[in-house]
Amino acid sequence: MFDSYLRESIIGRALKNKKISVSFYNPRDFTKDKHRRVDDKAYGGGPGMVMYAEPIIRAVQKAKGRPVLGAKRAVKKNVKVILLSPSGKKFTNTYATTLSKKYTDIIIISGRYEGIDARVKKILKADLSMDVDEVSIGEYVLTGGELPAMVMIDSISRQIEGVLGKEESLEETRISSSEMYTRPEVIKHKGKNYKVPKVLLSGHHAEIEKWKQRKHKKS
Ligand code: ADE
Repeated sequence: MFDSYLRESIIGRALKNKKISVSFYNPRDFTKDKHRRVDDKAYGGGPGMVMYAEPIIRAVQKAKGRPVLGAKRAVKKNVKVILLSPSGKKFTNTYATTLSKKYTDIIIISGRYEGIDARVKKILKADLSMDVDEVSIGEYVLTGGELPAMVMIDSISRQIEGVLGKEESLEETRISSSEMYTRPEVIKHKGKNYKVPKVLLSGHHAEIEKWKQRKHKKS
């Protein structure tokens, strides 16, 4: 699921240029029974399965132990653990920026099934002293954490120095408007002319900035 997306475009280029790195840890590889089970029925009943805590905790410990990207020798790691959950705190661009600046490593726990045993969070916080947040990417329920994980990888990565090229830009660093135009100046469609606003062709920078700000506020 992750491969095709992570190979492509800006994120693919960032991975190739070692601006970021992404590794995967499958809880199944951290089970101790021969069937490699990762889930079971919920105590107290109810529909759906719950993911076992222990394989996830072992996977997180393993992920935490990997070397920092590009480091020649030991570097102090700053690790954040994100538990994806539709009931977590809302993921925003501001939060993505904070994560990109504050942490060297981010471990995203992406669950399937109905949920994850609540002791994962408790043990990571209490015993392993890890910095854990429960995060939701929006008010809708998805079938798994894979898409939310990819959303987070994309949005955090683009905040990292060198990930966006000259052609792309962090929208925070310029005034963007909700309306953008490129060539041609006029599009004829069903007998009507759709023109680029005159001010954008005027070369009058102050007027253009004013127009952009007006459009920005409206959006
Ligand atoms: N898992 C399922 N739905 C989710 C959501 N909206 N955000 C984060 N993780 C999820």
